[in-house]
Amino acid sequence: MCSMEDMVPTRPSGRRPARRAAAPADPKRAQLDEYIVDPRDAVLTTNHGVPVNDDQNSLKAGERGPTLLEDFHLREKVTHFDHERIPERVVHARGAAAHGVFQVYESLARYTKASFLTDPGRETPVFVRFSTVAGSRGSTDLARDVRGFAVKFYTDEGNFDLVGNNMPVFFIQDAIKFPDLIHAVKPEPNNEIPQAASAHDTFWDFISLMPESMHMVMWLMSDRAIPRSYRMMEGFGVHTFRLVDGKGGSRFVKFHWKPLLGVHSVAWDEAQKISGVDPDFHRRDLWEAIEAGAFPEYELGLQIIEEKDEFAFGFDLLDPTKLIPEELAPVRRVGKLTLNRNPDNFFAETEQVAFHIGNVVPGIDFTNDPLLQGRLFSYTDTQLLRLGGPNFHEIPINRSTAPARNNQRDGFMRQAINPGRVSYGPNSLGDNQPAQATERAGGYVTFPEALQDSRKVRVRGASFFDHYSQARMFFQSQSEPERQHLIKALRFELGKVQAIEVRERMVAHLAQVDATLAARVAKGLGLPPPLKSEAPPNRSVPADGDPRDFQHRELADPSLTSTALTMTSHVPGPIATRKVAILVADEFDAKGVAMVLKALKAEGATGHLVGPRLGDVVADDGKASTAEFSIFTTKSVLFDAVFVAGGDGAGMWTTEADAIEFVKDAYKHCKAVAATGAGVDLLGAAHIPVGSPDDPDPADDATIVAPSASAAVARRLVAAMGEHRLWTREPELHLPL
Ligand code: HEM
Repeated sequence: MCSMEDMVPTRPSGRRPARRAAAPADPKRAQLDEYIVDPRDAVLTTNHGVPVNDDQNSLKAGERGPTLLEDFHLREKVTHFDHERIPERVVHARGAAAHGVFQVYESLARYTKASFLTDPGRETPVFVRFSTVAGSRGSTDLARDVRGFAVKFYTDEGNFDLVGNNMPVFFIQDAIKFPDLIHAVKPEPNNEIPQAASAHDTFWDFISLMPESMHMVMWLMSDRAIPRSYRMMEGFGVHTFRLVDGKGGSRFVKFHWKPLLGVHSVAWDEAQKISGVDPDFHRRDLWEAIEAGAFPEYELGLQIIEEKDEFAFGFDLLDPTKLIPEELAPVRRVGKLTLNRNPDNFFAETEQVAFHIGNVVPGIDFTNDPLLQGRLFSYTDTQLLRLGGPNFHEIPINRSTAPARNNQRDGFMRQAINPGRVSYGPNSLGDNQPAQATERAGGYVTFPEALQDSRKVRVRGASFFDHYSQARMFFQSQSEPERQHLIKALRFELGKVQAIEVRERMVAHLAQVDATLAARVAKGLGLPPPLKSEAPPNRSVPADGDPRDFQHRELADPSLTSTALTMTSHVPGPIATRKVAILVADEFDAKGVAMVLKALKAEGATGHLVGPRLGDVVADDGKASTAEFSIFTTKSVLFDAVFVAGGDGAGMWTTEADAIEFVKDAYKHCKAVAATGAGVDLLGAAHIPVGSPDDPDPADDATIVAPSASAAVARRLVAAMGEHRLWTREPELHLPL
């Protein structure tokens, strides 16, 4: 039985016994469990523990009289409600998170003294929040945008936050431009339009005046900006950090996350439709995968650069608009992150978590990347406002599992009760406690980097002015379909821009990146092919600066390409957790459907019956199956592939507009589409070109038709799904349809 005391938040002292059995191996879980409030078998109380007798009626002077101020329960309830909202994050407001663990494969003591990276026997609890950047809390998951990939490691030496994105570079080189960038991409300030979209004038106006953003623009216009799933995207720490070993030696490092399900995206048309059908698509996908036990996994990758090689790359390691091509510095996979538990409460955990790039542990240190340096200020500053004061580190999700002991005191919502009269150091009255830690005992010691220049200057290093080489490398490393998508994205985005001079300026930048790219975008915008060979001016110039000093300087090898930059290197890949819509009408081919379901299950994928209505659909063997969806309650954009089951009743689909749209979209989005028996007629009704069922070598391997379902059909469906999408279908698409 719960006592009423259990209905109010428990103290953070850790003295109260946990209500739920905590896995001893997960100290964070045990810590969070201390705060779980269990409503079972409890009576309703006020926040002060007084049992409530009537929660239906306010206290009134007579049956029809006015409400009395005396009603403490009404006042408390409404007041709490009135104050339930906190400011959303100024960026990355929309997010979803999960708990998990990280484990290193083998000791990295050669490179770092961070304990969580040196002990392969240790599981470090983590909390990971994925997010979009521009949209508000309620915006769609499928906006074309950068995705945040923020990881909080609760290590035994304190919290380490790796606050990265799903793209390895950033728009700007110096944090002083961050407010400008975000103002430009957010809805325009006069009318608050558009929500969660970069396709508008102010964003492209800003970008077109900032050549340093061109590399990131390539990523943003690529399919990386519309991931299939948070479980299928890479993560990057972006900046160059430092690893420091136990002897004080330092190396540069870039952090990567590599998803074990491969890196995959949706098509832009699909993204827009998903935004309407299920704006929570990514959030739901993450939640459901974890609930189903299909835990998302990512490997931590490190690119380690010796100090002596700091200037070996032709670009500056401190410039966050540059990546280190994997061909020049291989990514070593050193450990695994597994997300294995959904949060108990969205607000308490996902919303109140506060990441900060400045949360580092001994063995990890910063570099002088000017974007990184500015971030070191920004996160705590914004969280002071967002979370209402200086004690947000005490919120359960933010608490370190390593004990926090210091002389800091007071402030709004202080939870810790620090006893005694000593709140300063040095002190003699408290035995000089808490004591500082020697380096040997784990005290954090900043790497004593020698500074090359001791003047105070507001400048951008000359090595930061190669704006186009890596943009070109990215574009030229893409497969042809990926290039097509990028071009179409630019046509779409710039097509929404009203100011013609902004479009023209962007095309002129693109001409510096790649002539074909520029010409193809220009054509789509109805602009003449760019003739000018010089780059548009960089307007990010100080008042007394000479604009000539701010122009592009080609520093890197212009012919460089990198296979790591194309997503096609991830196919064929596993189809585990992929979802297949199986269209079943009455009298459907029971044996065929069973065969396909079995084949999917063997690969860890799932089949979902979509019927003409919800409820029972009777198969040709007389048995009823329950349709999980009706053709009116779902769309093919929510699935990875479609199978139209044969059977005497399948002909009914050909007159069903929603069914025609269902398969038409799946085909248009280059997904695997299979149909057997009378189910093939639906593909015909949707004008989907189908080869002969007997053709052993069809041009479009992802469109599978057969007179009846067989193991071979199921095998072909699985194989086609492994390709993720048949992007090469696109040039043939004249949208029949
Ligand atoms: C490499 C560049 C950057 C990356 C990878 C990055 C990444 C992120 C991520 C992942 C989040 C969301 C954290 C969460 O899920 O709660 C975030 C939030 C935020 N970022 Fe950045 N960011 C970058 C640059 C900057 C810069 C330059 C600034 C400011 C100068 C900045 C300021 C913020 C702020 C204010 C938040 C909201 C934090 C909160 O309210 O808790 N970011 N960033």
